[in-house]
Amino acid sequence: MNRRVPKTVWRLLLVLAASIGVLALSGCGEDEKDQEKTSLRIGVSLYKGDDTFINNIRMELEHAAKSYEQSGGIKVSLDIQDAKGSQNTQNIQVERFISLGCDVLCINPVDRTAASVIIDKAMAAGIPVVFFNRQPVEEDMDRWDQLYYVGAVARESAVLQGSIVASRYQEDPASLDLNGDGVVSYVLLEGESSHQDSLIRTEWSIRTLKDSGVPIEKITGGIANWERSQASALMEQWLGQYPDTIELVICNNDDMALGAIDALERAGITDVKLVGIDATVPGLEAVRTGKLMGTVSADKERYAKAIFAIAASKALGREIPEDIPLEDGKYFWCPQEIIKENP
Ligand code: BGC
Repeated sequence: MNRRVPKTVWRLLLVLAASIGVLALSGCGEDEKDQEKTSLRIGVSLYKGDDTFINNIRMELEHAAKSYEQSGGIKVSLDIQDAKGSQNTQNIQVERFISLGCDVLCINPVDRTAASVIIDKAMAAGIPVVFFNRQPVEEDMDRWDQLYYVGAVARESAVLQGSIVASRYQEDPASLDLNGDGVVSYVLLEGESSHQDSLIRTEWSIRTLKDSGVPIEKITGGIANWERSQASALMEQWLGQYPDTIELVICNNDDMALGAIDALERAGITDVKLVGIDATVPGLEAVRTGKLMGTVSADKERYAKAIFAIAASKALGREIPEDIPLEDGKYFWCPQEIIKENP
């Protein structure tokens, strides 16, 4: 019997074997990809964990991750670190996230002008970054197409803040012009001087008041770095320096308004009006109890959801969902609204 296999049959067998090999290989690749898609690792670094606003965002971020995990069946590991106000610490945290194999980084920069160090590291490792709340300068944001920013437009917060005061003045001028001299005498509490929100909020809040025809006069102002205790100390000092003069306290955020309220309460003063920005949990409580005339809310749930949705899409190599509209393909601006007593 001729046991020789004809050449054509050999060829057929070879082609068959090669095809099976290719199929097997690509199948394995797909499996691996699918495997990757069952879990996400996200590294988050906060500029300061004890900042009230940032803490509120952190809570919402954790909620967003949980509900995503529950609805999407993808395991999410959210590694949240506190840089405690040190850029150096934050840089080390970023290095650690990269060495742990994070798929994406969410960074609330300590020094927004020093984001380039983080960008260098992320670019070298090919890991996308979602910055939030402390906006890197444009030249840095333009360095790579895998950089995103989530925040609230500072000018909008300020215009809304100014309009809280303006509408109160129009309804009842005497509630602001306490001594009836025809002008509202105010003091101003500002956030960190290096923060994009401080200068813009200050400028546009005052501009809105002027444009709305509220007669105002500045007594003094100072930087309290977003902090309740610093604001309280400044307010106490001003109450001593300008007794019976201050009628309005304009604050770049709620925490500083709460600090000013602390000082007013210590002095037994209840008629001075205050406005804040943020609508943090304690800020909202102060509005509810009538201690704060009003505040401006950036929808924190939406804010955190946007950070999370961009991060998760990037980590999974998917398109960013359409309900997260991005300006210039990289900036998400969170909608804001006024919260005031007797709306
Ligand atoms: C918030 C402040 C917060 C600061 C931190 C601002 O946008 O209004 O409350 O302290 O961001 O970066």
